[in-house]
Amino acid sequence: MKARISLVVLSLVLSLLIGLTLHRGAGGGKAAGEGPRRPLIGLSMDTLEVERWLHDRDLFVARAKELGADVLVVSANGNDTRQIRDCEALISNKIDALVIIPHDGAAMAKGVALAHEAGIPVLAYDRLILNCDLDLYLTFDNVRVGELQAGYLVDKLKGRKARIVRLMGSKTDNNAFLFKQGQDNILNPAIAAGDIEIVHEDWCDGWRPENAKKAVNAAITKAGRNIDAVLCSSDILSGGAIQVLLEEGLAGKVLVTGQDADLTSCQRIVEGTQAMTIYKPIKNLAHAAAELAVRLARRQVVVAKEELANGRINVPSIYLPVHVVDKDTMESTVIADGFHKREAIYQH
Ligand code: GAL
Repeated sequence: MKARISLVVLSLVLSLLIGLTLHRGAGGGKAAGEGPRRPLIGLSMDTLEVERWLHDRDLFVARAKELGADVLVVSANGNDTRQIRDCEALISNKIDALVIIPHDGAAMAKGVALAHEAGIPVLAYDRLILNCDLDLYLTFDNVRVGELQAGYLVDKLKGRKARIVRLMGSKTDNNAFLFKQGQDNILNPAIAAGDIEIVHEDWCDGWRPENAKKAVNAAITKAGRNIDAVLCSSDILSGGAIQVLLEEGLAGKVLVTGQDADLTSCQRIVEGTQAMTIYKPIKNLAHAAAELAVRLARRQVVVAKEELANGRINVPSIYLPVHVVDKDTMESTVIADGFHKREAIYQH
């Protein structure tokens, strides 16, 4: 009991120091000796400044609580040094399993190594961690995301020699390469057939909208205003791209893709300034991750059907399906799933 109380006190002290938040499940605080110890899970997040990740946190914590676990959440706001420190703090709080959403998939190998030194298993959430002995990777089918984005454009632009600008994500995020790989699977044959031309493309450091704006401005300077589509890997980037298109009087005339079904993107889709987004049912990911993290925390067996090479090992991996959302499918996807309310999307 004493150990448990001092753990809670330590948690509180650390939470004041580094912004670490303890989310306690029902029956929390039960003394040791009154039953099996409640699993304590650490969730180290890249950022909470982007809409999507707030959903992930809330759903993960809620499901873990339902399963009788406590969760310590901490966010690094895109800073690698801080994310390593966050992992150290979680480890010293005696977590039973660590879940990481890495800002930089290479840098966070250190976080995995530190957890393993303390005997704590690690699950990478949504983004892969490279060159380490990662225990488990749970994500969406990221290559499919890219295929669906590019496939949407190829389909809509059929019959003309389409000029496309492509905005890829952050090079520190392995997902950005998987989205590109999926896009290339579809674009390369269309480029070879002369149906598509990529007039400009660039990576957007940190997935930041201002970098998307810069890239679209550069594209217009280089290739002119005669653009049919901007292939954006995510909704944060489509937000930046559409700002430039609005300034240029091109919004609504140029097809823009996205990913994440952010509320503002769904609003833009029904208004007509964005063509599509990819809806990734975050509830499925967050709930599955919470269930797996609790299993890891209890040292129970976890089964993964896929494997993904991370430079060191083939990481046992699980991929969840994704869905295209445009004007026509908004109702049957995002709204039907309760991800956003109809009134919020249509703003009336
Ligand atoms: C990716 C993630 C996307 C998007 C992006 C920017 O790793 O898979 O859903 O949110 O980061 O945050």
